[in-house]
Amino acid sequence: MRIDIVTLFPDLCRSFLEASILGRAASRGLFEAHCHQIRDYTLNKQRQTDDYPYGGGCGMVLYAQPVADCLREVIRQCEEQGRPRPHIVFMTAGGQPYTQKIAKRLAKCDALTLVCGHYEGIDERVIEAFADEEISIGDYVLTGGELASLVVADSVLRLQPGVLAEAQGYQEESHWDGLLEYPQYTRPEVWEGRAVPPVLLTGDHEKIGAWRARQSHQRTAARRPDLYEDWCMRHPLRPGRWKRSERAELIRTDAALDAAAQIYAAAWRGMCGGICTPAYIAEHDAPAMRAELEADRAGGWAFYLHSTAGEPDALVGVCHKTGEIGRLYVHPSAQGRGIGARLLEFARKKLPEHPNPWLAVLDCNRPALGLYLRAGYRFDSVLRVFDPQNDPRALQLCRELKYVYAANKIRD
Ligand code: ADE
Repeated sequence: MRIDIVTLFPDLCRSFLEASILGRAASRGLFEAHCHQIRDYTLNKQRQTDDYPYGGGCGMVLYAQPVADCLREVIRQCEEQGRPRPHIVFMTAGGQPYTQKIAKRLAKCDALTLVCGHYEGIDERVIEAFADEEISIGDYVLTGGELASLVVADSVLRLQPGVLAEAQGYQEESHWDGLLEYPQYTRPEVWEGRAVPPVLLTGDHEKIGAWRARQSHQRTAARRPDLYEDWCMRHPLRPGRWKRSERAELIRTDAALDAAAQIYAAAWRGMCGGICTPAYIAEHDAPAMRAELEADRAGGWAFYLHSTAGEPDALVGVCHKTGEIGRLYVHPSAQGRGIGARLLEFARKKLPEHPNPWLAVLDCNRPALGLYLRAGYRFDSVLRVFDPQNDPRALQLCRELKYVYAANKIRD
């Protein structure tokens, strides 16, 4: 790949590209980088590159002519090397927001040219004449496009084969794609009283992988719900087969109802920390949850108790009247084994008379939202709002959402 930066500060750009990993990769011939001085293409005696804007206003605007002539020279050089016309990107605060997806697309270019605007802007006509696209690196305004062009150059060049050596395949191809990175640790094992998570010292790569995946998911869901939603849409769930030791049975006996109430209380408390007041959470002990389940049963709900090797660990309910799936709770000690996903599918299949069953979920319950999205449920409406301003039980604003099973519609 050949990358060209068209700028008023070529030395600044060059010093970055010649340093560290990128500098070593360039000297190994993995790509070539060229920085061009716009001022060298001016036609006036003072080598002036900018002027006052037509229509008035503060600041100066870069002339079209030196930028255009500089770009023509870059195009000529590419042609001379037998390369296609370079893909030309103008770095502007008004461009499309830059993402890893765009980095991957640009990394496939044989020649990429980045144009740095400066001062208050750049004559629009040269953008019209040459730009294949405009990119912004974020919703803030820089004094010039140099830092932005280096951000793009760095993120594109690290994707060139060989630049990151062994890390490449792992970073780019694995299922972490689109999720935030899991936390990393190195020596010492305990630093200023903070220990490395014990699982990382076990040497059990399966366990470590599972831990890292969970961390990645939790971080993305909490910090970047937009990215997480996107990831969930692109990674539909295929619930694994039931293990031989697993059962889900209709709750008929008092003992089964007691076991379900215990699981419900434990899982509900785990879910509601930080969302509801401790006093409200304390009210939800097993007897209270049992009373709720009994009231629901009287209202037409059927509940199923899931157990692994004879040990009850999850429950789910279905309402044949309304097509609702509810009370899907996995005991905290059994979470992370895919039981929720399998039980969700099990519940849907118990409602063959409802092609589009639905469920209610709190928008702050990110793991549940992720599960439902991946299982093919989609947002339908807001059922209720819990606002700490007028609800003494709530610690944070959250909405109860209706999600409707739409996988059959999506397939159509
Ligand atoms: N030039 C000035 N601000 C910019 C931004 N946020 N992104 C790209 N180029 C810019």
